Amino acid sequence: MTLRTSPEVGGMGHSIKRKEDPRFIRGKGTYVDDVVLPGMLYLDIVRSPHAHAKIVKIDSAKAMAVPGVLAVITGQDLAKYNLHWMPTLMSDTQMVLPVEKVMYQAQEVAAVLATSRYAAADGAAVVEVEYDPLPAVVDPHKALEPGAPVLRTDKKDKKDNHIWHWEWGDRAATDRAFAEADVTVKEQIYIPRIHVASIETCGCIAHFDKVDGKLTVWMTTQAPHAIRTVFALVAGHVGLAEHKIRIISPDIGGGFGGKVPVYPGYVIAVAASVLTGKPVKWIEDRMENLQADSFARDYHITAELAAKKDGTLTALRIKTLADHGYTDAAANPSKFPAGLFHVCTGSYDLKAAHVEVDGVYTNKPPGGIAYRCSFRVTEAVHTIERMVDIMAHQLGQDPAEFRMKNFIRPEQFPYKSALGWEYDSGNYGGALQKAMDGVGYAELRREQAEKRKRGELMGIGISSFTEIVGAGPSKHFDILGLKMFDSCEIRIHPTGKAIARFGTKSQGQGHETTYAQILAEELGIPAADIQVEEGDTDTAPYGLGTYASRSTPVAGAAAAVASRKIIDKGRKIAAHLLEVAPEDLVYEPGKFSVKGSPNRSKTIQDVAFAAYTNHPQGMEAGLEAVSYYDPPNLTYPFGSYICVVDIDKGTGEVKVRRFLAIDDCGNIINPMIVQGQVHGGLTMGLAPALFEEISYDEFGNVQGGSFIDYLVPTAVETPKWETGHTVTPSPHHPLGAKGVGESATVGAPAAIANAVVDALWHLGVRHVDIPITPPKVWKLLREKGVTE
Ligand code: CDP
Repeated sequence: MTLRTSPEVGGMGHSIKRKEDPRFIRGKGTYVDDVVLPGMLYLDIVRSPHAHAKIVKIDSAKAMAVPGVLAVITGQDLAKYNLHWMPTLMSDTQMVLPVEKVMYQAQEVAAVLATSRYAAADGAAVVEVEYDPLPAVVDPHKALEPGAPVLRTDKKDKKDNHIWHWEWGDRAATDRAFAEADVTVKEQIYIPRIHVASIETCGCIAHFDKVDGKLTVWMTTQAPHAIRTVFALVAGHVGLAEHKIRIISPDIGGGFGGKVPVYPGYVIAVAASVLTGKPVKWIEDRMENLQADSFARDYHITAELAAKKDGTLTALRIKTLADHGYTDAAANPSKFPAGLFHVCTGSYDLKAAHVEVDGVYTNKPPGGIAYRCSFRVTEAVHTIERMVDIMAHQLGQDPAEFRMKNFIRPEQFPYKSALGWEYDSGNYGGALQKAMDGVGYAELRREQAEKRKRGELMGIGISSFTEIVGAGPSKHFDILGLKMFDSCEIRIHPTGKAIARFGTKSQGQGHETTYAQILAEELGIPAADIQVEEGDTDTAPYGLGTYASRSTPVAGAAAAVASRKIIDKGRKIAAHLLEVAPEDLVYEPGKFSVKGSPNRSKTIQDVAFAAYTNHPQGMEAGLEAVSYYDPPNLTYPFGSYICVVDIDKGTGEVKVRRFLAIDDCGNIINPMIVQGQVHGGLTMGLAPALFEEISYDEFGNVQGGSFIDYLVPTAVETPKWETGHTVTPSPHHPLGAKGVGESATVGAPAAIANAVVDALWHLGVRHVDIPITPPKVWKLLREKGVTE
């Protein structure tokens, strides 16, 4: 009873050359699955074919007869150590392995431990599980109806499938604004469940060394320190203390938020290693990854926007059902169950807003991870950008002019939004104007008018988004109580070379390059002389990890602050060497010189050597600093994207003819990396706009569980991206930088959807839910009487 494919098709590891020595694992193109330890055992997971069913019996006899199989681990086994349930990041509970019932198709039911990956897979294929199917609850609306089967029967006194209600804003003021509005528009917007689909799936090698009582886990995690703390809190009672746990996150093949949570496979591998004293490897195959973890979105939104006759926006009202699957395992800051969804007023100067979200349990795997998005910002941006477009069309105004009229103006920053956020800086009109000039907006509108006369369908879509990235400040943001700061520790060696370690963890964003650039710029030490390291909890300072575009805003700032501490000490050492007062020195990167006598100077390398050989009496030796940076505010990158589409009336296919993205992430540290981030982000925005969706049938069977059905765009489907930028520095970041990693994923879908509706508005189409697939458009066109 397992959904897994045969070992020949599943798993990445079969095509990757394994290396025998685990010590090579840093910065050498090495992934978790490459780690092979002597005597290593392998896990394979038996998964449920049912979305909701009682487990009657698990028969392991046949599996145990497979050569190489050592054990079949069940929920009952873990229950002996109270490890069959674990807490989620939102303080809900999630099964590691079930004892009574399964709650979604592809849920872990048992694990087979064997001496080889193949034996484990063969064993998993013959574990016989008897199920007693229960009715599946798939639609979150139906889940809330009276009489719906209650899913979380494990929770005492739980009488329904409602998880939480959360609301924000001034309800009365918003209702008043709607009552007084000249025009209102209302739309149902569904933002479907999608998957991060990283190239590398999730996995780990857990190695409990019985001699020194230490657990080392090489794992695909974006947040190694937080994971170490969670492991210590969850497994402290079985003897795992935090100083005896080492998490190593080597190279990661894409994270996008999907590698933040703890998945059952990690816990089973750790438990198996602690029990056997052997290293245990668990690596998901592609289908397991697509069917069981790393899900995002699944927001059912009802949005309303109010305006005056002249087109001045006045108020926004939103109600949302958030489908979390069977447990709320969303990766959100604790205080915000709907993440930062309340940045949904976007780039517009709205005076009143109110937003409500209800979390709902259904028979699906846990969702709600921050997929290349700062905690539900993509959902917020899609909603406001669609609604603003609908209002502009409703009023018969040009969507660009309409946005220009309603933007928060540059002189209004710092700007307090109706939902309480303080935007640091912005020039929305500047970015949109640059995008309009870049695509030749007026000419495109003329072309569209002519084509429309000929019956051709061309659309121009705009998305002028505002992001909110760089969590903390820690007074507002924590994950499981861990405050959201981040860290940099710098050690300068006597010969002037340096090592810098960070609490973040790159997944391909080029941290090694950009952090070295920041340090080189501040300290005047060549970047090639700086070793940057992340991802090893035994060496790196504590940090909350990399997701939600927080690395540059938080750890990048920590690099600057730690550098400045080094310079402060270096100034005293240089003054000692030059026999002047520290105040008599001027500093330029890499050099301290005497004011008025520029020839009397000491380099940072001279100072580093003296820090160990000739430092002033009374001063501690060494040249090191650490910063645990707690940002005073988030950063608010933004952008304006313009998309041009042509729609084929015969097939319903949407062709993105042009797409220009103007981004503003404040001061740019590395233009090439930023451009790469935008290109990748745009493709990950195109994907849900036109292709990707994980849906379920009425029985809870997953419909997009392999790459045959879950359509990840390839180079063939991806248009040529045109990019550009404006620069509006963040006033509070030490380098004036804002995050950028996810801007494009957040901003792109609305530009594409707006372009499609712009092409179809004259036919009476007001909204199309993403993904905008050819059959969906074809059907719409036929409904509106359009034929070839
Ligand atoms: O947290 P994550 O690294 O995913 O995101 P980020 O800080 O938004 O930026 C992604 C990458 O873009 C960073 O690692 C930097 O390499 C680069 N970047 C930059 O060069 N200048 C900026 N202002 C922002 C980011």
